[in-house]
Amino acid sequence: REAPTIGDNVAAAWAALRDEAAACTRCHLYKHATQTVFGEGPVDAAMMFVGEQPGDQEDLAGTPFVGPAGQVFNRAIAAAAIDRGQVYVTNAVKHFKFEARGKRRIHAKPDTGEIEACRWWIEQEQMLVRPQVTVALGATAARSLLGRTVTIGKERGRALRLPDGGEAWITVHPSYLLRLPDPAQKEAEFARFVEDLKLAKAAVG
Ligand code: URA
Repeated sequence: REAPTIGDNVAAAWAALRDEAAACTRCHLYKHATQTVFGEGPVDAAMMFVGEQPGDQEDLAGTPFVGPAGQVFNRAIAAAAIDRGQVYVTNAVKHFKFEARGKRRIHAKPDTGEIEACRWWIEQEQMLVRPQVTVALGATAARSLLGRTVTIGKERGRALRLPDGGEAWITVHPSYLLRLPDPAQKEAEFARFVEDLKLAKAAVG
């Protein structure tokens, strides 16, 4: 058997981190969620995408961005010529936060304490994957990565520096597009989202 390479070690460290996160009790959200939804994708990915938190379907599947927001995300990255199989996809918060309404589970926004508690995981994902470019999808991801509140409208479309020296690009969350009632606005905002993704992709050297 050949000696392990750095890549093997990173992959093993990532798998150990994912297993550890599966038992996370760093905040109270684990109590009602089905499971931890950890990031997925190659550990040597050049691009990392960070969402807010798993939704109802992600909570059941254990995989990020597989529900309705995931469908929008998939369409948008495809339009920006980004291959989902080659990028790392994760969330700022790894457990689904919701309010039960009858049989339905309605998404609830993670608060600052929950985002802070979960930074423990995203920081280690960042350290292992070391992406050239990280894309924050929405305000929660941006807050988690930058450690401050950001206005997406002001900060989108340009490179920002992460505390660890990496580069981040901020754009909207795909759920924002799902919520827009006006089809023309929806289409225009989708196109803008794709433009942001193209800029981020072009920043990968
Ligand atoms: N929204 C997110 O932010 N992440 C997911 O994984 C799914 C929906």
